[in-house]
Amino acid sequence: MKALILFYSVYGHIFEMAKAVEEGVHDAGLTAVLRKAPETLPDKVLEAIGGLEPRKRWADVPDVTIEDLIDADAIIIGSPTRFGGMCGQIRSFLDSTGGLFAKGSLIGKVGAFFTSSNTQHGGQESTILTSIPYFLHHGMVFTGLPYSFDAQTTVEEIAGGSPYGASTIAGGDGSRRPTRIDLDGARFLGQHVGKIATKLRGDA
Ligand SMILES: Cc1cc2nc3c(=O)[nH]c(=O)nc-3n(C[C@H](O)[C@H](O)[C@H](O)COP(=O)(O)O)c2cc1C
Repeated sequence: MKALILFYSVYGHIFEMAKAVEEGVHDAGLTAVLRKAPETLPDKVLEAIGGLEPRKRWADVPDVTIEDLIDADAIIIGSPTRFGGMCGQIRSFLDSTGGLFAKGSLIGKVGAFFTSSNTQHGGQESTILTSIPYFLHHGMVFTGLPYSFDAQTTVEEIAGGSPYGASTIAGGDGSRRPTRIDLDGARFLGQHVGKIATKLRGDA
């Protein structure tokens, strides 16, 4: 069985979270297929926002294709928060999946979402919650990050993660990296999705 991890990242937070999701998927016994959303910003803009250098770390990850979605038993999407919602690069790719919708190709697959934002209350929950209609319109089974990942309840330190999905907080200037709790949450999400996809197929 396969889980597609589709991500977009400028400064690497979502890439690091995607790698942790990949580990979780692998732990659950599925093949993890890591893919990135095609870039839509011109290099000039990326250069202006300091986004050309970090992406060298994931330059060898292939761009996602429609076939990647068809082949997957589960689809886990990671996007930075943009004005309280998902980024245009992910949205743009998802908007190219009307043909799959028409054929019902994604019905019954498991879906989940993870995100990153600069500030603690800068829209992580709204980003994940507003992704849910995409999965449901395709007839998919959306899963969040259950409270059995209990580190999400901590008030001892700033931590990402909510019942809606995994997340991390990059800090006002973007210099904060995903913490152990954030990465554990991403790993847990990958495992959780993997287990549910396996149960749905009846192999559990
Ligand atoms: C156009 C734009 C809009 C953004 N909107 C928000 C926002 O609504 N809330 C927030 O906390 N951070 C916002 N950010 C910060 C990004 O979420 C942050 O850079 C990202 O989470 C870092 O992830 P990455 O390293 O994977 O790119 C925005 C950044 C950009 C460039």
